[in-house]
Amino acid sequence: MSSFSTKHLLGIKNITAEDIELIFQTADNFKEVINRPIKKVPSLRDITIANIFFENSTRTRLSFELAEKRLSADVVNFSAGSSSVKKGETLLDTVNNILAMKVDMVVIRHSGVGVPHFLSRKIDANIVNAGDGTHEHPTQALLDSFSIREKLGAVGGKKVVLIGDILHSRVAMSNIFALQKQGAEVMVCGPSTLIPKYIDKLGVKVEHNLRKALQWCDVANVLRIQLERQNIQYFPSEREYSLYYGVNKELLDSLDKEIVVMHPGPINRGLELSSDVADSEHSIILDQVENGVAVRMAVLYLLAQQR
Ligand code: CP
Repeated sequence: MSSFSTKHLLGIKNITAEDIELIFQTADNFKEVINRPIKKVPSLRDITIANIFFENSTRTRLSFELAEKRLSADVVNFSAGSSSVKKGETLLDTVNNILAMKVDMVVIRHSGVGVPHFLSRKIDANIVNAGDGTHEHPTQALLDSFSIREKLGAVGGKKVVLIGDILHSRVAMSNIFALQKQGAEVMVCGPSTLIPKYIDKLGVKVEHNLRKALQWCDVANVLRIQLERQNIQYFPSEREYSLYYGVNKELLDSLDKEIVVMHPGPINRGLELSSDVADSEHSIILDQVENGVAVRMAVLYLLAQQR
């Protein structure tokens, strides 16, 4: 059996198509495990993992914690808001103090672009990027592709459109790298203010008309409008955004085809996605969440083999 090409999972940009396939084959096995009455295997019982979150999270933090516990790892959780960071402790001091307690792996989310990469040069533990600012969110992209593969049989050859706030989205960046490495065609769709100027250098199509984008694609991955990262106004009003770029049932019903709808969560219901689509048979949003546990188990298991 082949092994992972990297000691850390810092992003999708620096892993191979073979790594992605290995993660998916391993996740297939773990998905079977987590659907058993006893959802646990002893694979990481000698490993301690710290989940270090400097930004809010529901899905990613709980999914990593469950993945770690399903693999029998020892787990410690750190939230910046209730820590000594509030007393002025630096990131590196914080992490080194956690590692002094004999931690083997670190799962980190931080608002700073490149924080996991910085840590990987300073500490010995395996690092998993759980989202660094607007840069990458590799496990989200992996669980997104795994969910497309599960629903449509393959990722290669499929047409996937990422809709909305591409500019602030680490999910978009990791998805572009992951989908292209697997041979999918990628389009981005949104107002030009929310599409990065360098996007054509990434080899993706750009479309500003939502109906045309939906008509083109097999899969629509609708992204959250990241109001917390927008310190200037990128569109006139939420009502206008929803009118031009909101995915709703009326629009999907008017297409002459069926498409798969995804969203990484959390959803701004009624803004980028209507409830009648989010909760419909088009949507695989809760499958994405379920698959997140198996995919993260696979990532942690494969990184632990590198120790
Ligand atoms: N998709 C995602 O990263 O969700 P959380 O912010 O809840 O972790």
